[in-house]
Amino acid sequence: MKVFDSHCHLDDPQFDPDREDAYGRMRAANVEKCVCVGSDLPTSIRCLEFAKSHPGVYAAVGVHPHEAKDAPADMEERLVSLMAREGAVALGEIGLDYHYDFSPRDVQMDVMARQFSLALEKDWPVIYHIREAHGDMLAFFRKQKRLPAGVIHCFSGSAETAKEYVKMGFYISFAGPLTFKKAPNLWEAARTVPVDRLLVETDSPYLAPEPYRGKRNEPAFVVRTLEKLAEIREMPVEEMAEITWRNAHTFYRIG
Ligand code: NI
Repeated sequence: MKVFDSHCHLDDPQFDPDREDAYGRMRAANVEKCVCVGSDLPTSIRCLEFAKSHPGVYAAVGVHPHEAKDAPADMEERLVSLMAREGAVALGEIGLDYHYDFSPRDVQMDVMARQFSLALEKDWPVIYHIREAHGDMLAFFRKQKRLPAGVIHCFSGSAETAKEYVKMGFYISFAGPLTFKKAPNLWEAARTVPVDRLLVETDSPYLAPEPYRGKRNEPAFVVRTLEKLAEIREMPVEEMAEITWRNAHTFYRIG
């Protein structure tokens, strides 16, 4: 069995004491590949550097809605040069986060839209972070003539919302919360997504799945979320591993 963690943050300072060990545990758990996702330009560069020196690790570069307020004026130019580097597979994570509102909403929208336009022009796959902002995000997508390939990462909406995104051609990625003891809405969403649109991820170091809930998450733990997804879809875990492995390669255009 080979497993693909479609979204993690191995660059995060929480991994400073044992980043190499976390990578070793990931590989030992058959999580042969992962995408390390940037939140701003410095973390994007750290992801690229880690990817370059670690087989099976790829990088995404982008400006997260939390960091939108600090996006540089020459963001587009710098993203183009980062995307040209070895191991860069997607733009992300970009989006809207109205839960924390760390950046003003109009600024979040502007920085997301600028990156969206760039991805469309360059034909890059996009990783979206959308928290408590599905209404505005769906309205934005509906206004567009075309959409670049995209994944709704760490999906947190309803089955209805998942269906809307799937209709638009997006992948839906499930993270640790799928394993939580009371997550019937997420389980329902996971039942409705077509198999060729499913991805799994850790979003580590955040959102550890059961039985590690509350602890630091790491890529090896994606197996717990994969097992839960297989259970929900009444499928052998090996088969779900194969499906999500293939989907991740297709979406990120790897190999
Ligand atoms: Ni993330």
